[in-house]
Amino acid sequence: MFTLKDATMIYDMDKEEKVYAMKSMNITFPDTGLVGIIGPSGSGKSTLMYVLSTLKKLTSGQVVYNGKSLSGISESEKQRLRRTEFGFVFQRHYLINYMTAIENATVAATIPPKAARAKAENLLQEIGLKKSELTHKPGKLSGGQRQRVAIARAMMNDPKVLFADEPTASLDHENAFLVMGKLKEYAKDRLVFVITHDTTIVQDADMIVKIWDGSISEVEKKGERV
Ligand SMILES: Nc1ncnc2c1ncn2[C@@H]1O[C@H](COP(=O)(O)OP(=O)(O)O)[C@@H](O)[C@H]1O
Ligand SMILES: [Mg+2]
Repeated sequence: MFTLKDATMIYDMDKEEKVYAMKSMNITFPDTGLVGIIGPSGSGKSTLMYVLSTLKKLTSGQVVYNGKSLSGISESEKQRLRRTEFGFVFQRHYLINYMTAIENATVAATIPPKAARAKAENLLQEIGLKKSELTHKPGKLSGGQRQRVAIARAMMNDPKVLFADEPTASLDHENAFLVMGKLKEYAKDRLVFVITHDTTIVQDADMIVKIWDGSISEVEKKGERV
């Protein structure tokens, strides 16, 4: 579904200090499954996610999604993709302060409110929130709980592609495991990108892409690993 062709992304093109965040990446991602993107801080993982999801444009090269180059489609078509086919879990969660966990998780739901609420309650509890915490506002939730509200919100409309940037960063081991289990289940018939600098949480991924200083240094597919 996604192919990168010589994908290069340079920040501050017009300045003296250019940052090569992505250097001529070439790769085809599977249509479904869990893809782990790993690499040290500053290696270009988030930039890769932004470029795949139309939030940033490449400096050169192409991102091809379902046979179409993203550089050739209009801004409104990109918006439509982001709204209807993509789901996002950002490093910063961007929850709405005056809304409860449930309200945040359902804020952009496209199914009727009652069904959305029931779905959010299930999702949130599956990834480790207690029933009593579902009506807490972000101010009363821990970083890890807020992160999971953002994950439930991203899954709400069953996007075909889910982009998760460090989704377990503020979680303890047990809750990270719960979240990864849920993402893995979700990835059975959809595509899930999980960015992390912690290799252990994507051990079970269908594909692992290692990024080093803006380049793909290694690609491992499940089954090819020992
Ligand atoms: N908005 C920006 N402007 C300039 N440089 C940036 C910007 N965002 C990221 N960078 C730089 O691009 C490189 C890759 O960053 P990023 O994709 O955030 O890496 P990662 O997610 O792996 O930590 C880093 O050197 C970072 O400092
Ligand atoms: Mg990042």
